[in-house]
Amino acid sequence: MLEWDDTPASPALQPAAAKPAQVGGYTPHPAIVGAATMTSHAAAPKQDALFAEGGATGLEEIKMGGARIRVDDKKIINCRADLNQLVPFKYKWAWEKYLAACNNHWMPQEIQMTADIALWQDPHGLTEDERTIIKRSLGFFSTADSLVANNLVLAVYKHLTNPECRQYLLRQAFEEAIHTHAYQYCIESLGLDEAEVFNMYREVPSIHDKAAWSLPFTQSLADPDFHTGTPEMDRRFLRDMIAFYVVFEGIFFYVGFVQLLSFGRRNKMIGVSEQIQYIMRDEAMHMNFGIDVINQIKVENPHLWSAEFQQEVLDMIKEATELEIKYAHDTMPRGVLGLNAAMFNEYMKFIANRRCAQIGLKAVYPPAENPFPWMSEVIDLKKEKNFFETRVTEYQTGGALSWD
Ligand SMILES: [Fe+2]
Ligand SMILES: [Fe+2]
Repeated sequence: MLEWDDTPASPALQPAAAKPAQVGGYTPHPAIVGAATMTSHAAAPKQDALFAEGGATGLEEIKMGGARIRVDDKKIINCRADLNQLVPFKYKWAWEKYLAACNNHWMPQEIQMTADIALWQDPHGLTEDERTIIKRSLGFFSTADSLVANNLVLAVYKHLTNPECRQYLLRQAFEEAIHTHAYQYCIESLGLDEAEVFNMYREVPSIHDKAAWSLPFTQSLADPDFHTGTPEMDRRFLRDMIAFYVVFEGIFFYVGFVQLLSFGRRNKMIGVSEQIQYIMRDEAMHMNFGIDVINQIKVENPHLWSAEFQQEVLDMIKEATELEIKYAHDTMPRGVLGLNAAMFNEYMKFIANRRCAQIGLKAVYPPAENPFPWMSEVIDLKKEKNFFETRVTEYQTGGALSWD
């Protein structure tokens, strides 16, 4: 069985041929280890006045007679090689995730919401506490996915100087749009007050605090004058990657995921719950992509991963975990759906420890148990494969081209 946050397998993903080396407590993708070997004896790409600061953008002058790209020219940050040439691949894990994400395509309107609408409109259908959870979750997620998308497009994309990673970022950005669409679709279907739900991150303190926590990590990178290329600036970029991929998508989403999936487990709000199931599968891959990027940056730039910086990251993860626990208490003042806030104290510590291990850090909390082992079963490959096999047929029928 998959762990709850493993990337679901796709036909494009190949099993590791050999046990990869350890980087700290983290086991990197075999391709990362291979890439590091290639980098170690790479010839330094020719410097160019166009790249006075940071790396290439992909919009530089196209010179006739320029040399062909070699795989050793590629670097995950501060790359000076042409970014418009996707191949030769260096980071195959990024390309494989792009292919897997395309195989998982879905749209919110495909999911039936009629049972949810009937239950929501029935005055006895849900308790007030259950309604609060639905509204707060939609309030948090409806703006959170836009925030993630804006960070990707306006901050991360420019500084991640690798075409295969950018290919995945473009796919991820579209998926974030689908997620925002899914939340809007739920809000509209249930007839909620849109202004109230979308503005919750300005009105509900525990929602505001999570969004506000993340903002400083993207604002400087979105500054047009920000460039990578010095240890201080490269570390700032790495910090932003950790803040968004490890904390925002890897910690701040998980109380909401458990809460909303718990409705479906009790045969309530099954449409909302199904939307979340597909969103969570996408998000697990986003997070795993981000973790691969973070570990690749560490492999290529080990000087960035100083003891002081590691401590800073641990502090970030701990601070974020406390905010997520606070969010659990705020959305669930009383036990509901077989859940209570105390379970989330344990769960978020379990999650935080796991995130630390994924980026090669020691656990930030003493050993913690997962009180929701069923989260692992949510990613059920067989069911999803069948679901998407039928959907693919429908796409081909509905989207057939007519030439006259
Ligand atoms: Fe998302
Ligand atoms: Fe995401």
